Amino acid sequence: MAIEQTLSIIKPDAVQRNLEGEILARIHRAGFRIVAIKSLRLTKTEAEGFYAVHRGKGFFEDLTTFMSSGKVIVMVLEADGAILKWRDTMGATNPANAAPGTIRRDLAESIQNNCVHGSDAPETAAFEIGYFFSGHELL
Ligand code: CMP
Repeated sequence: MAIEQTLSIIKPDAVQRNLEGEILARIHRAGFRIVAIKSLRLTKTEAEGFYAVHRGKGFFEDLTTFMSSGKVIVMVLEADGAILKWRDTMGATNPANAAPGTIRRDLAESIQNNCVHGSDAPETAAFEIGYFFSGHELL
């Protein structure tokens, strides 16, 4: 497998519940390198831009309100096959369907308040990493 980078977000529900440390520990245990990390609060417009592929879906309004409701931690994670590996570490979008031992199964409250985000493909990862980080932050 090739070394890849993926964009990860610890969402406002997890930050609100002080779960950052637990999630970062799981990231390290899974063998990722954290290439870049920052804490910020998205505006509603920034959340809408990030989730533009979901515009028009029933959950878009609630999702973007939620994602702009408090601080998030955004990270670039690197590993062999990082995109799939991070999705496996997170578990299924809906915590009710997530495998035991995954972040969402163990920690998340609902399909929306699901603690973490991860890119779903190489093109998405490139867009999402560029949304938050400039080249000099990824050295
Ligand atoms: P995420 O992996 O960040 O991608 C889109 C987000 O929309 C998802 O996690 C959830 O937080 C949220 N969401 C809310 N309802 C749904 C749904 N029915 N299907 C997919 N995503 C949903």
